[in-house]
Amino acid sequence: MSSMLTRRAVAGVLAAVAFAAPAAAQQYPARPITVIVPFAAGGPTDVLARLVTQRMGAILGQTMVVENVGGAGGTIGVTRGARAAPDGYVLTVGHLGTHVSNIALYRQLQYNPQTDFEPIAPLGVNPMILVAKRGAPAAVPAFLAHVRQNQARLSYGHAGIGSASHTAALMFHSMTQTKVQDVAYRGTGPALNDLVAGQFDYMIDQALNLLEQIQAGNVVAVGVTTPQRLPQLPNLPTLAESGLTGFDVAIWNTLFAPKGTPPAILERLNQVANQALAEPALRTRLTELAVQIPSSDELRLGAFRDKHAADIARWVPVIREAGATAE
Ligand code: MLT
Repeated sequence: MSSMLTRRAVAGVLAAVAFAAPAAAQQYPARPITVIVPFAAGGPTDVLARLVTQRMGAILGQTMVVENVGGAGGTIGVTRGARAAPDGYVLTVGHLGTHVSNIALYRQLQYNPQTDFEPIAPLGVNPMILVAKRGAPAAVPAFLAHVRQNQARLSYGHAGIGSASHTAALMFHSMTQTKVQDVAYRGTGPALNDLVAGQFDYMIDQALNLLEQIQAGNVVAVGVTTPQRLPQLPNLPTLAESGLTGFDVAIWNTLFAPKGTPPAILERLNQVANQALAEPALRTRLTELAVQIPSSDELRLGAFRDKHAADIARWVPVIREAGATAE
């Protein structure tokens, strides 16, 4: 009798759970959603995340609350995101640094960038700019000579080993065969404040974060890291055209959920990201900030996986070759 009762009770519980899962997805989101940004407030990842998720929240009818969890090149925040419950209420913004470079630079990375996450949607791709403190030579050849001649006493800023700013600097120093003291920050928001104050000599950061300070004359723009110049700064040459042939670094930022998040929730979030990124006001703002807005093909749920795998294959060997490991 008791075994029959137990089997029936277990069947009842399983049926209830099975029924509850789709119901949870139907009621989603029933409460605010946390979005982990693994860098300090005010930096490019934070600003891009807030611009897009603010509109996503408006469409969802639920606030998306950005939580800045900086440190260790973004790995602290991303690890927390990987370990979050797969229920759609804790999402993570990652990028080329946190989900590609870190594979090459951290021997004990606490997350697998591919298998611990479900990509929801790319948020945008940021070109980068090499900027220097006021008084530095602005022309690329003169700046390169300046770095080569003075590398023993110069310093550059970044957002931690494996961050986008650190990755780009690795490529720059590898290509120029220079070795310069680094200064690590919890994000390039605070790093930029120190560059404006002349606390260190240069940094390669995402254009989104730099345009205002460049246009205000508070930092010297030296070169763009993509093969094409930026419409926002048409007179700023690319590093590639100025002698660093082949220099080509741009930073995708993507919204992720933890592995195991129900497909219905991933589909809902992807659909809302598509809607937000189709809004004219947001598109205008992102374009002003030199953000390359993902195409509808790139925004198709699941499309990012191929891009991610291709970037890992391309970048991990190059970064391993260029960089010291983080630990
Ligand atoms: C980086 O990887 O350099 C970060 O994205 C900078 C930031 O967002 O603070």
